[in-house]
Amino acid sequence: MRAKVFLVGAGPGDPDLLTVKAAGAIAMADVIVHDRLVSDAILDTAPAVAARICVGKQPRRHPVPQDEINALLVRLARTGLTIVRLKGGDPFVFGRGGEEAEVLAEAGIPFEVIPGITAAQGCAASAVVPLTHRGLATGVRYVTGHCRQDAPLDLDWQGLADPDTTLVLYMGVAQIRQIASRLIEHGMPADLPVLAIANGTCPDERRLTSTLLDIADLVATENLANPVAFIIGNVAGLHLAAAPARPVPHLVATVPEAAHA
Ligand SMILES: C[S@@+](CC[C@H](N)C(=O)[O-])C[C@H]1O[C@@H](n2cnc3c(N)ncnc32)[C@H](O)[C@@H]1O
Repeated sequence: MRAKVFLVGAGPGDPDLLTVKAAGAIAMADVIVHDRLVSDAILDTAPAVAARICVGKQPRRHPVPQDEINALLVRLARTGLTIVRLKGGDPFVFGRGGEEAEVLAEAGIPFEVIPGITAAQGCAASAVVPLTHRGLATGVRYVTGHCRQDAPLDLDWQGLADPDTTLVLYMGVAQIRQIASRLIEHGMPADLPVLAIANGTCPDERRLTSTLLDIADLVATENLANPVAFIIGNVAGLHLAAAPARPVPHLVATVPEAAHA
């Protein structure tokens, strides 16, 4: 039997945002290697006999290092089983899916990438904020606020400080004060709208609307906790077309019948 690994995006949280192809792969899995943010509602669509291995960061515990995850995927695949590596959002957007794909390719293991809805898209849709909009934003950039402990953030501040381009900041809660002030220093208007969305698309989604100048204080006073995506730019001012946090009744993700056969 030929092993195959599926690198699958689980989307931003709402199980109904899983793609049909992702649901099909999960339904065929012998083993699911998943991140912590993948919800039980999604994991529960896997066959009851499928093994689940969580390699995500747990509170007060070290995450499994990436090279151990890579080695685990290769080891599991060599057993001939069908492996689903399930990640939040999209595997190729700040998901380290590229590194896993490289390792699988080097090991000669067949694999397939199944994209997911990334946090930027899920959060923007949930808050009714178009990421590009005629007259307000001609482009969008996804940026990470993550940096190694104690290291300064090494971003292209001059290039990022373009008010015609929407920035979506991932992993930026801890660094939002530094990021906002560097953007202002490099010419972004201090009153540029910013929307912070925590747990976007999930029942406990929270949103804070502010400006580049004030967002860090608001995030601190409101204790906004991860996962948070920041939408920075004029489009964030379009937010709240009277959209409630849960605009659509929650449906349970359904698995195509054929996938069970
Ligand atoms: C390691 S990155 C993974 C990104 C993921 N691969 C994607 O495409 O969305 C984790 C970051 O994604 C963002 N994120 C993921 N899910 C989110 C959600 N439901 N709401 C807000 N931000 C989210 C947060 O910035 C979080 O810190």
